[in-house]
Amino acid sequence: MRTLRTVTELRTAVRAARRQDPAGVIGLVPTMGALHDGHVQLIREARLACEHVVVSLFVNPAQFDAASDLAAYPRDEQSDAGQASEAGADFLFAPSLETVYPDGFATSVQLSGPLVETLEGAHRGAAHFHGVTTVVTKLFNMVQPDVAFFGRKDAQQVLVVSKLVEDLDLPIRIEAVDTVREPDGLARSSRNVRLSADDRPKALALRAGLLAAEAAFAAGERDAQNVHAVAVQAMTDLGVAPEYLALVHPRTLAPVTTIDGGTLVVVAAHVGGVRLIDNTTLGPDPSGRR
Ligand code: PAJ
Repeated sequence: MRTLRTVTELRTAVRAARRQDPAGVIGLVPTMGALHDGHVQLIREARLACEHVVVSLFVNPAQFDAASDLAAYPRDEQSDAGQASEAGADFLFAPSLETVYPDGFATSVQLSGPLVETLEGAHRGAAHFHGVTTVVTKLFNMVQPDVAFFGRKDAQQVLVVSKLVEDLDLPIRIEAVDTVREPDGLARSSRNVRLSADDRPKALALRAGLLAAEAAFAAGERDAQNVHAVAVQAMTDLGVAPEYLALVHPRTLAPVTTIDGGTLVVVAAHVGGVRLIDNTTLGPDPSGRR
């Protein structure tokens, strides 16, 4: 695996790969580093589906709503490079802040509407997604991949990026990859390392809420309000109040009242000082995943 720092280096490498193998598919896995098994799964899937795999590593200040969260974000490029290489990446694109946002940078790529204004957008501010869409557009233009891989753990991000690609006619296919979990069910996250030993068991509250929703649905409950109440109760039983827990349409994120044909349950909560998110789908997933 080669580590590339500048857009010129990256373009030269990707162009050479395309020249050698014109039919070869180029896959991009965008990350902010602090790689864990969730990221590794994305890279493995890219390796299986693509001839050339680029992993990008860039902690994007534009998408952090709190300076303290950005400052506390774990960084370990050496470990990231080892994991990316082992999972099958050909190139690690790890640009500096100045490469991505040079002095005088003045452009922002912004979606509007419910996809960026609800849920994460409502609680973190829509600027979070403006930061994501701006950097993802830049990464897409820098790498020019055929396919890009995103995790379903960030379900709203998958929808936002898919809409970006659709609206701007970007010639890139978006692949969504299932959430990878710790053995006890906690969704893998770069933020998990910041959980104290006392808070770690409490972090399971998010999964407990989602499992309670799944159990209620399996038992025949179709009223979203009732499922919501059961899920919130399962969380508060573990001493965690959700920042939000919502049953929404899996594409529009509009709230649903009756569960039918695949409903997304999304949850966010603060555990100790750490903000965690998770989600599940009730009923047949419209993407045909299950
Ligand atoms: P980051 O949080 O590093 O995540 C990179 C990718 O890994 C995202 O697509 C995310 O959904 C996926 N991922 C994280 N945890 C996962 C898990 N447990 N299982 C499966 N996939 C998981 O998301 C970002 O970075 C940024 O917003 C980015 C897209 C890189 C733009 O800056």
